[in-house]
Amino acid sequence: MKNYIIIGVVFLCFFCVSTGFAEDKAYIGSTACKDCHEKEYANYMKYAKKAGSFESIKKMKTKLTPEEYESCFECHTTGYGKKGGFVSEEKTPDLRDAGCEVCHGPGSSHAESQDPDLIIRDVKMENCNTCHNKDRIEAFDFKPLLFGGAH
Ligand code: HEC
Ligand code: HEC
Ligand code: HEC
Ligand code: HEC
Repeated sequence: MKNYIIIGVVFLCFFCVSTGFAEDKAYIGSTACKDCHEKEYANYMKYAKKAGSFESIKKMKTKLTPEEYESCFECHTTGYGKKGGFVSEEKTPDLRDAGCEVCHGPGSSHAESQDPDLIIRDVKMENCNTCHNKDRIEAFDFKPLLFGGAH
């Protein structure tokens, strides 16, 4: 009987760690960070090209097939295809640009608890490579390269 309880507890812990905590973190968009991190938000809006990254792809929409256009979302929006991430401009306007969370990771649990351990603090180069990857961008062979040397 005791063994079953131990196995049960171990399984439960494993279940919590593997699904619960990780799954809790969803993307919430840059505006949600604004009130608590005014300075970072203002700097981002003013200086980061990322704050206009959706406009960059939108301008080219008419020259792209729907599939090609969709393929831009991975890098030019926040959390596309992930929990709470970008779906469409209409449904998720706060996630339409590559926002705070592309570097700091999904922020829902941090925003709720204000716990700095629940957000990526020491952003590393690996956090950039998913999008700033020369090989990937060049291998991608998408039309914008033809239209004005986007990259
Ligand atoms: C309700 C307020 C609140 C919201 C919303 C919030 N934060 Fe925070 N955040 C805090 C507090 C409080 C700290 C801890 C500050 C400290 O330790 O100096 C913090 C710390 C951080 C840190 C670590 C700072 C450090 O010095 O290590 C980062 C990065 C961060 N927040 C990013 C974000 C991002 C990105 C968002 C939006 C997705 C966000 N925060 C939303 C309150 C908030
Ligand atoms: C989700 C994808 C994504 C991630 C992750 C990402 N970036 Fe970017 N970044 C972009 C996009 C897209 C642009 C271009 C925006 C535009 O001009 O439309 C950009 C633009 C830039 C620029 C251009 C100049 C400027 O002032 O904005 C710099 C520099 C940059 N990113 C640095 C970084 C660094 C450093 C990291 C990692 C800490 C990082 N990026 C992570 C997508 C990303
Ligand atoms: C693998 C990630 C990735 C994908 C996918 C991607 N981009 Fe980008 N894009 C970037 C990064 C990173 C930059 C910033 C390059 C820099 O400034 O060094 C950028 C920059 C741009 C710029 C230049 C903006 C400026 O102000 O100079 C345009 C335009 C652009 N991308 C359009 C597109 C379009 C259209 C698509 C889809 C067909 C697309 N991108 C797909 C990562 C990507
Ligand atoms: C291109 C990646 C990138 C984006 C986008 C980004 N950050 Fe950061 N953030 C960093 C890096 C890198 C640091 C410095 C970490 C360190 O000092 O080790 C940092 C530090 C911070 C800190 C800690 C205090 C400080 O200034 O050092 C806070 C808070 C923060 N960012 C919030 C935000 C918020 C809010 C947004 C969106 C409005 C945002 N960040 C967008 C990369 C990014």
